[in-house]
Amino acid sequence: MYTEKVMEHFRNPRNMGEIPDADGIGTVGNPVCGDMMTIYIKVKDNRINDIKFKTFGCGAAIATSSMVTELAKGKTLEEALKITRGDVANALEGLPPIKMHCSNLAADALHVAIEDYYKKHKAEKGVKT
Ligand code: FES
Repeated sequence: MYTEKVMEHFRNPRNMGEIPDADGIGTVGNPVCGDMMTIYIKVKDNRINDIKFKTFGCGAAIATSSMVTELAKGKTLEEALKITRGDVANALEGLPPIKMHCSNLAADALHVAIEDYYKKHKAEKGVKT
């Protein structure tokens, strides 16, 4: 039921793990199944310099996490914020309809991580000025 691309990312996920000194962290839970995903980002010159994920979820959740890290790496924060749930599913050449809810986590967690970075960054600036 999965495309070859989904299976490939599931078997061989990219950027799996944690970034201990991450600049932004985003965790989201899937209300449908209770699975969880966390995305960690390192930002340099307004770009996503490094990105990792930790996912407790199904195969589709792992494949979409892996794909979203590939899509976001090297992008500016503004570009990364434009990555949609649909982009992730399309990059994986589609997901079965009953698994579409799983793909929502990846883009959402990425957006939360970027917002977390913005929040922390603003706070830092506030301290300096
Ligand atoms: Fe939970 Fe897919 S079944 S994320």
